[in-house]
Amino acid sequence: MHILITGAAGFLGQRLVARLLERGELQGHAIQRLTLIDQIEPPSSDSDTVEIYRHAVDIAEPGALGDVLDARPHVIYHLAAVVSSAAEADLDLGMEVNFDATCELLEGCRTRGLTTTRLVMASSVAAYGGDLPAVLDDMTALQPQNSYGTQKAMCELLINDYSRRGLIDGCVLRLPTIIVRPGRPNAAASSFASSILREPLNGEDAICPVATDLAMFVMSPARVIEALVHGAEVPGEALAPFRAFMLPGITVTVAEMLEALRQVAGEQALARVRHERDPRIEAIVASWPARFDIRRARELGFAGDRSLDEIVAAFLAENAPARTGA
Ligand SMILES: NC(=O)c1ccc[n+]([C@@H]2O[C@H](COP(=O)([O-])OP(=O)(O)OC[C@H]3O[C@@H](n4cnc5c(N)ncnc54)[C@H](O)[C@@H]3O)[C@@H](O)[C@H]2O)c1
Repeated sequence: MHILITGAAGFLGQRLVARLLERGELQGHAIQRLTLIDQIEPPSSDSDTVEIYRHAVDIAEPGALGDVLDARPHVIYHLAAVVSSAAEADLDLGMEVNFDATCELLEGCRTRGLTTTRLVMASSVAAYGGDLPAVLDDMTALQPQNSYGTQKAMCELLINDYSRRGLIDGCVLRLPTIIVRPGRPNAAASSFASSILREPLNGEDAICPVATDLAMFVMSPARVIEALVHGAEVPGEALAPFRAFMLPGITVTVAEMLEALRQVAGEQALARVRHERDPRIEAIVASWPARFDIRRARELGFAGDRSLDEIVAAFLAENAPARTGA
């Protein structure tokens, strides 16, 4: 089993690599080779059983993935992307990385006859927008209201069509907003949703740029990684006629997130969150829906978090040494 991961140096990419190495197998086959692609060289990982190749490659460069596709990977995780705020700020960059590079990846698979290669791509809640019903499902039309969501939606359609034609075996997971993301804030418009929990838990200040009654659809990093693993294993026949769907996140308001913070870390931690509304962030995030009927994902065997408390507890358990400075 040979697995190719684009965006392997990113937040999800690094976690996916660790999880796959821990698992040792995918689709019932031992993992023999991992090819890790990112514009910055993916960090090294140790394995006695898996050959790991790491390449610093800009996937927006024409032909950038030619050599790695020549090696005929069995599974491709396509995670490289310019995230939401950055794609909104720079249309050319977003188009080149989020859309053009995906087209080139699909054509690369097509010309090499990689018809049985499972392509798992991460799409986003940002693919939805506009005039939406109170509760969405996978039949809700995609009317993205920002360039990032539009680029993701276009990729979804293409991956579905290439799969329908039997040119690739695609599976597109629409990811909820991921909280609590460790590390530093990034250029995603949703970055604050992690910051308002993570920074106070780490004894630092955070800014909440949105109204506290804003609801969001969220999922923990661990559940997203399990979904990516499952996305490589769910049978293609079960995915037709449309291979993109929303993962089973949970709906929480910003006020509920702040209350969860207060519960675990007290008033002092809560006081570290300053409320400074940012219309640019608010406009993007408020266009993302927060309530979904996720029956389809559940029928396909994808699992979600049980509660916000569970998500916060998992973050605390994982990051306890850093928080105590040990
Ligand atoms: N984290 C979330 O909340 C979330 C939510 C919805 C969807 N997603 C999607 O999941 C995927 C992974 O997200 P993430 O949170 O790990 O993001 P991330 O920014 O941490 O990782 C993306 C990686 O892509 C790489 N990349 C960007 N441009 C590149 C290029 N031209 N060539 C090669 N590599 C390039 C970056 O260097 C980075 O390492 C993305 O497709 C993102 O759109 C994430």
